[in-house]
Amino acid sequence: PSEPAAPYTTSDKTSFAYISAKDRWPVIVTGAIDDVHRAIMACDDEAKRKEGKTILEGLAKLKYELQHDRQLTPLEDDGQLDIADYNKQLEALGNPKWFNVPWLYAECYLYRRIATFFNPSTHWRTYDVFFRQKLSTFKSSRPAVLELAAKYSTLIAQLENDAYLTQPTEELEKAERILFMEMCEICLWGNATDLSLLTSLTYEDIQKLQGSEARKNAEKNILVNNLPAAYEALVKAKKEGKKVRRLDIVLDNAGFELFVDLILAGYLLAAGLATEIVLHPKSIPWFVSDVLPADFAALLGALADPQGFYSAPDDPDSGKTPQPLSTNEEENLHLLFRHWSELHAEGQLILRPNIFWTSADSYWQLPKAEPRLYEDLKKSELVVFKGDLNYRKLTADAMWDTTTPFATAIGLLGTGSGVRTLALRTCKADTVVGLPEGEDERLKATEGGGGEGGPRKWAWSGKWAVVQFCDGKA
Ligand code: F6P
Ligand code: MG
Repeated sequence: PSEPAAPYTTSDKTSFAYISAKDRWPVIVTGAIDDVHRAIMACDDEAKRKEGKTILEGLAKLKYELQHDRQLTPLEDDGQLDIADYNKQLEALGNPKWFNVPWLYAECYLYRRIATFFNPSTHWRTYDVFFRQKLSTFKSSRPAVLELAAKYSTLIAQLENDAYLTQPTEELEKAERILFMEMCEICLWGNATDLSLLTSLTYEDIQKLQGSEARKNAEKNILVNNLPAAYEALVKAKKEGKKVRRLDIVLDNAGFELFVDLILAGYLLAAGLATEIVLHPKSIPWFVSDVLPADFAALLGALADPQGFYSAPDDPDSGKTPQPLSTNEEENLHLLFRHWSELHAEGQLILRPNIFWTSADSYWQLPKAEPRLYEDLKKSELVVFKGDLNYRKLTADAMWDTTTPFATAIGLLGTGSGVRTLALRTCKADTVVGLPEGEDERLKATEGGGGEGGPRKWAWSGKWAVVQFCDGKA
């Protein structure tokens, strides 16, 4: 189709859009208010405090308008180029109210509006109202981080080891394929809140793992898994002897998810499945936890001084002293730091922000809205889109029938763009496509799934995932 299906809107009480607008967004804005309040209290620069108070007023007004179902007001010009576009779209929507507006537009507008309070200020221009939250969630994923760091060190050593590399080709290819799936699945579940789904990844483990309970358990929650096709695409490019083979990751969340994204990136480079990884972060604080360039720096900073990072208590009043890292744990984290900083310094790991990622546009609009970015993505062997929001944007957050083919639901990217797309998505919203006939009904019938003919509740929790590939040639 040349147009996507109709979008989900906040007026639909059976969708997660309505629940988001009613319950989640006010909590998020309140969190932002608390954070700024806290920052003002801790600051003794009068001019900064004054500006902070103006920001608080803006946030409080936004919260009031949202909770009282007022119209979305045009965004105030904060000097950035995307404002005009946001306002043009708002006008085209007929200046809607909060509870009768396309979900995707409203949610992007919310974060863009928050940014308009900070952008014009002198002291708060680069302030990230969600930074504290992102960093503390990363800290709390310490056990998984340490486990993965240990496995990563072993893995990198193995990939460089002669005994591994001189295995018969067939064996090597088999091992490589399994490792690739494993790394991508870790990267996928890093997007879910449930870290317990993580599985292990050394070569030995993986061999045992083919029968592993944990991996199988997580795998049955992947409703569609096109990883083999994505792997074939990378291997084909390698076999063709292409010198530069680039892979892109359109990032989602900071902290633990960024950590696993870098694990995947480092693995792909070490395994020779790509020679260059381009990471696409956001340019303004976005959907609470999304990656900004500063989050990348903060993550590397934490790894450079892991003992310092983990020994600083989150809450100094709690009286609890965190357990120091063992020498081994510290070394593993240092190794990650060195490996990733080197890759970054050598230009194999590149950060490439673009204002398009924080527009309200779905990716159906990419070719027209940002032709240069579109052309750039065509140069990649594979573009990996992480997480739920990227999936909603790929599919225009529309009310597709769940059996609609993925290639159809992603518009031009699916048909003749030449962009190879891979979505790694844990489901946290209503839109899902590419499912077999009857699957949606089956899942609705599970406990808490929404019931026959009811809302698609099963798709809201992050428990289920889809991994969908399209070669862009359909
Ligand atoms: O469904 C809840 C939600 O906050 C959506 O608004 C948004 O699409 C998504 O989750 C954000 O999740 P992710 O970080 O995976 O994109
Ligand atoms: Mg996100």
